[in-house]
Amino acid sequence: MATFTLPRNSTVSTGQTYKAAPDAKNVRSFKIYRWDPDTGENPRMDTYEIDLDKCGPMVLDALIKIKNEVDTTLTFRRSCREGICGSCSMNIDGLNTLACLKPIEDVVGEVRINPLPHMPVVKDLVPDLSQLYAQLRMIEPWLKADTAAPPDEERRQSREERARLDGLWECILCFCCSTACPSYWWNGDRYLGPAVLLQAYRWIADSRDEYMGERLDQLQDPFRLYRCHTIMNCARTCPKGLNPAEAIGKVKMLLAEREG
Ligand code: SF4
Ligand code: SF4
Ligand code: FES
Repeated sequence: MATFTLPRNSTVSTGQTYKAAPDAKNVRSFKIYRWDPDTGENPRMDTYEIDLDKCGPMVLDALIKIKNEVDTTLTFRRSCREGICGSCSMNIDGLNTLACLKPIEDVVGEVRINPLPHMPVVKDLVPDLSQLYAQLRMIEPWLKADTAAPPDEERRQSREERARLDGLWECILCFCCSTACPSYWWNGDRYLGPAVLLQAYRWIADSRDEYMGERLDQLQDPFRLYRCHTIMNCARTCPKGLNPAEAIGKVKMLLAEREG
């Protein structure tokens, strides 16, 4: 008989509450997913009460404060603190986004924080992104050209050629989009997902790259590309305001044109 409930060891329980100091006046609760593979225990949601008068404005500031001052075992990724490295992507208040760009005041009430959805969890808020990186490696996200570059010069582009990369080069590979994509949830082993497909198109669209044909051949596959059903979760969630669905549409158009 089919089972529609979570396996017993996946049920998320209520964890500990870490109270704010009694004199704190501007308190906000952060409810955070915790799971440590070494304990053998179920995941739990711990609650941390934070005095916002003594905390920076972003969700990442609160996480760093918790780790530094309340609970050093809390585990999450971060690096740049300014929306450049893509490390601090997580699900905040139901939306995949970057903790360093998400103002606490944008969340009403309790701030619920989970790891990026539908990914195996390494620990707490750290997802295992190995599959996504393997897929990225597969599309060879670098300039491929057989023609030698002009001696002592860059490979030049016209302003128009360069402008074609706008909306693509800004991607920081945070994977908020891929992990919000229902098609990627169900077929992530074979569908490349919005982040990797946006990267694939970024190189297809580059006038200096000489491997457009091979790159398109690689994507002409019922699963790798055509599992995108234009549901648009990717564009809605991208913290950099990019539109992977549009890039995917352009790849489909190039393939259709090539078919003639
Ligand atoms: S538009 Fe395509 S890639 Fe974006 S969320 Fe929907 S199915 Fe996924
Ligand atoms: S397209 Fe946006 S959400 Fe997707 S990986 Fe790039 S920056 Fe992140
Ligand atoms: S810490 Fe680098 S994007 Fe948030």
